[in-house]
Amino acid sequence: MTVEKRILCIGAGYVGGPTMAMIAHKCPQYRVTVVDINGERIARWNSDRLPVFEPGLDEIVRDTRGRNLFFSTDIPKGIAENDIIFVSVNTPTKTFGVGAGMAADLRYWEMTAREILKYAKSPKIVIEKSTLPVKTALAMERILNSNHHGIAFDVLSNPEFLAEGSAVRDLESPDRILIGSEQTEEGLRARDTLVEIYANWVPREKILTSNIWSSELSKLVSNAFLAQRISSINAISALCEKTDADVTEVSRAVGMDSRIGPKFLNASIGFGGSCFKKDILNLVYLCQHYGLTEVADYWNAVLRINDYQKDRFILTMINAMFHTLSDKKICLWGFAFKADTGDTRESPAIYIARRLVEENARVVVSDPRALENARADLRDTGADVSYVEDPAEAARGCHALCVLTEWDLYRHQDFEKIYHSMEKPAFLFDGRNILDHEMCFDIGFNVYPIGKPPLTHF
Ligand code: UDX
Ligand code: UDX
Repeated sequence: MTVEKRILCIGAGYVGGPTMAMIAHKCPQYRVTVVDINGERIARWNSDRLPVFEPGLDEIVRDTRGRNLFFSTDIPKGIAENDIIFVSVNTPTKTFGVGAGMAADLRYWEMTAREILKYAKSPKIVIEKSTLPVKTALAMERILNSNHHGIAFDVLSNPEFLAEGSAVRDLESPDRILIGSEQTEEGLRARDTLVEIYANWVPREKILTSNIWSSELSKLVSNAFLAQRISSINAISALCEKTDADVTEVSRAVGMDSRIGPKFLNASIGFGGSCFKKDILNLVYLCQHYGLTEVADYWNAVLRINDYQKDRFILTMINAMFHTLSDKKICLWGFAFKADTGDTRESPAIYIARRLVEENARVVVSDPRALENARADLRDTGADVSYVEDPAEAARGCHALCVLTEWDLYRHQDFEKIYHSMEKPAFLFDGRNILDHEMCFDIGFNVYPIGKPPLTHF
């Protein structure tokens, strides 16, 4: 088969890897190469143990790898040989200098742009997949078009909206594909090339085009709105606990208003993940930069409530367990930031575990996919933390059990048996409201859900 398009992606992470696998899967006529500076990561993409766990991803990679999907560390060759270059390198929060703790650190992006400039021998379309502050494309275009070889570069913004754990489904049938371009003849031509790629499997009416700044900003705003819904319901969960209202009932009633909708209204210990906090900080920083103090404060409050929610969870534990956690054994069910992923970036579980260690508790972490990451996240505590994959085994001999990730397997445990294996009084803190609280209470647990009255035997 003749190769119709040669596509490169720089950055083989949670976004780059699955996205390119889907393009290769849907478009056998294209040749897709994914490169990364991290040799170990590339080796894992080329192995049977992929660096990213996503339901359905293994099958797609198995079918396409070596056929029209390739993973490599040879970035110069990748740049030279491909005409369409996606960039999905990470854009962490800056830890130094101006904007430290808030602004996006763009050094990897700029380094990548300079690499493209160095190795390109023909015109390229460069596509921002990473989430970036508004106006980054402008800077990139300036760097790229500062060359003296007369090579033309078009920069497009094409943010990725996939969520971890459902990446394959999200990529296969996205709510929308957003493509931002310059409104010049060349910009629109580059845009149409990208539209053509997605049109291989995404209905045309779901492919939105816009100017480049709207596209960059839409990604930040989408994540901010999603996070804001979680902070809104979490704020209300605090009020529910004071008033005997039940947050699940409130969220169901509110979500049935078709203008509001039911999704992203589950009260929890707080949101985690690599995007929400980083993107809101980024948005807040942008607003501050433009002197929009009130707007910045408004979005910052979403993060404040998220921190407050995690603190509340710890305080509830301390208060319930007779004001001391010292030397008590506490089991954490779940460490991933959400179910169906092994990712623990910004997971609320990290904060909770660290706070428990500070209280001199003995922490037992259980998770079906995230124990390797959990170990790395807590290594520097040097504390008495153990890691046990089996949930029932992990709970044995503990004073309390905390549900931190909504893994389905936690719903289907033998709670009678678990209760009998624990210290008494046995406490259950359900940070995700996924268990049958009445049943656990009847067995003997003292149950503390989020945003509902506790069920206690005292
Ligand atoms: C990242 C960002 O977090 C997100 O904001 C953005 O939208 C997409 O990129 P993710 O794929 O989850 O999301 O990040 P990560 O898993 O860290 O992958 C980034 C990859 O880029 C890493 O494998 C890293 O090694 C690679 N990288 C980084 C390069 O290849 N070159 C660099 O210069 C820097
Ligand atoms: C998010 C966006 O959903 C996605 O569109 C974007 O591309 C990247 O950021 P992700 O972080 O992978 O995706 O997961 P998401 O499903 O959004 O969950 C984020 C966090 O919110 C998780 O910790 C989750 O447990 C929490 N959450 C979600 C709640 O606490 N309550 C909810 O109702 C929904």
